[in-house]
Amino acid sequence: MRPPRIAIFASGKGSNAMALIQKAKVFSEGQVEISFVLSDKTDALVLEKAKNDGIRTYLVPKRSDKKSHEKEILGLVREHRIDWIFLAGYMRLLSADFLKTFSEWHNGASQVVNIHPSLLPAYPGVDSIARAYQDEVPLSGVSIHLVDEGMDTGLILAQESLVRNSQDSLEAWEARIHELEHRMYTGFLESLATFQRRTVYFQENP
Ligand code: GRF
Repeated sequence: MRPPRIAIFASGKGSNAMALIQKAKVFSEGQVEISFVLSDKTDALVLEKAKNDGIRTYLVPKRSDKKSHEKEILGLVREHRIDWIFLAGYMRLLSADFLKTFSEWHNGASQVVNIHPSLLPAYPGVDSIARAYQDEVPLSGVSIHLVDEGMDTGLILAQESLVRNSQDSLEAWEARIHELEHRMYTGFLESLATFQRRTVYFQENP
């Protein structure tokens, strides 16, 4: 059986994407494959970092016509027979149509995941780390969830919490959250590579 093929969608500095790329190298060929990194942002650092690491990258610049933007992205996903999409700081919601098409290509399975730096459903959306910090929450954490068309609303697959130290600066707190994100997302990748989590492969004739 071929390895699960993964596409990472990211719009930012790409620390999660790069953690996934490094982790994939640990596995022997045939266990998991990061096929490409895609961004909708021209100046996204993640594109440069992934390219420097020998990973194929695609820039599909954001435009107001979401339908045609997603159509172009789905074309790439189909061309590479992608099995899983990992969102890692991708700052655009995927439409219900996009998710439905992708799911149909996998016999109805949901195989788009996202990582979010809070204990969902608390603090969905942007600036979650800073908002939770400002609210002085004693506990926050990281969630991995399936992606639906809402803002961080899909089924939660994994969650881990972190206790905030009262002396943590925002920067220190952020760093601890990101470290946890990298550990959890690479752990999720490992579960695919080691077949602990079942992949429904791209159906050739959906
Ligand atoms: C991460 O905190 C992720 O959870 C959120 O966006 C941030 C992306 O950071 N969705 P990076 O680009 O992976 O460093």
